[in-house]
Amino acid sequence: MDTGTSEVTFENAISMLKADHRKVESLFKEFDGANDEATQQRVAREIVQELTVHAELEEQVFYPAMQAKLPEENALLMEAVLEHGSLKMMISQIEETGPGDALFKPAVKVLKEYVQHHVKEEENELMPKASRAGVDLEAVGQEMAELKQELLGKANGSSQAAAPRRDQPRAGANR
Ligand SMILES: [Fe+2]
Ligand SMILES: [Fe+2]
Repeated sequence: MDTGTSEVTFENAISMLKADHRKVESLFKEFDGANDEATQQRVAREIVQELTVHAELEEQVFYPAMQAKLPEENALLMEAVLEHGSLKMMISQIEETGPGDALFKPAVKVLKEYVQHHVKEEENELMPKASRAGVDLEAVGQEMAELKQELLGKANGSSQAAAPRRDQPRAGANR
């Protein structure tokens, strides 16, 4: 159902996710320009952490919010979740290798190409649909910001960049 009232809140959830996308793109660029292994390792870790947290925000908050408003788009959302599954496999491949490994740079490149494809679908298909369907982008953005804070807090200090799963999903953002 189109409420036609989503324009004023267009900023939040979508601009937040898009900002993450841009950040990861610039990290991939930084990786490509890095000549020393220490920088490559550091940047690869950052990419892994950014993507892991970002995928959690989408799977736990953004996609369910879309699913609630757009049950007819279930297949599109399932596709996005499946793609996250592939991304996670690529991420573990990067975590298992390192700059000394012949697979390391190819693995980062494959991840970059896959992320580009996934981001394009989200920005060209999912996000415009969420916006038109009247998903409460402000509340969803608030919810994602809180979860991000929580995940980054937990991931901090851990050598594995994998974000821990939350024990319970938050259905509504009450601030
Ligand atoms: Fe995604
Ligand atoms: Fe995304």
